[in-house]
Amino acid sequence: MRKNIVAGNWKMHKTQKETVALLEEIIAKKPNTSTEIIVAPTFVNLSKAVEITNGNGITVAAQNMHQAEGGAFTGEIAASMLTDIGVNTVILGHSERRAYFHETDALLASKVNTALKHEMRVIFCFGEELKDRQQNNHFNIVEYQLRDGLFHLEKKDWANIVLAYEPVWAIGTGETASPEQAQEMHKFIRRLVEKVYGFDIADNLTILYGGSVKPDNAKEIFSKPDVDGGLIGGAALKANDFLAIVNGF
Ligand code: G3P
Repeated sequence: MRKNIVAGNWKMHKTQKETVALLEEIIAKKPNTSTEIIVAPTFVNLSKAVEITNGNGITVAAQNMHQAEGGAFTGEIAASMLTDIGVNTVILGHSERRAYFHETDALLASKVNTALKHEMRVIFCFGEELKDRQQNNHFNIVEYQLRDGLFHLEKKDWANIVLAYEPVWAIGTGETASPEQAQEMHKFIRRLVEKVYGFDIADNLTILYGGSVKPDNAKEIFSKPDVDGGLIGGAALKANDFLAIVNGF
């Protein structure tokens, strides 16, 4: 179901003590809002995050998971281990996973299938690199990522899919996509989903923007008709900045 979401991807930051402190500050300062607030700490802090946020209107998500149900995969985490501790949302396909851990669209399709099998909600990340945009190939790249990662799904599966368009050139760079660039791509994405799955699925789809969203640009980006919120990196690590972005709606 389409909704406003601001999700904080904490990446590889915050010890347990720092996680507790940040979550307690977010809970203490968070506004009454219809926007869903999601935090994604590292694996080791998920249990504690679920404990602290329980009943406080904040959803906890994982930053990744393995596609297998379990087995000899040293260092990996299975879907059942996440749902078992109350984590039912998972970020998949982040550009850092694609770049540093060589996650392909085919592998991500398999991860998505496993997450949906466990009735998890998937925040599926994708986006072009700077060279793609410079060559005016960004729409093709985004279409390939969506087709190869998600377009094997059935209509019913899309109830548990949130899309996160994250132009790689905007991640962690301070080089944010303009609100017009974000809207142009989000509209393209929504029309592409409509072409394949129909108007109802596309119109009910939540599409987040990620890539250097900050308190001073969130409001304008979120004001665009096909932008339903943001996936936040650096600015999610400080309660005041993260909540200022939440207030961007
Ligand atoms: O997943 C969100 C992240 O990639 C965006 O990072 O630091 O540009 O907000 P940042």
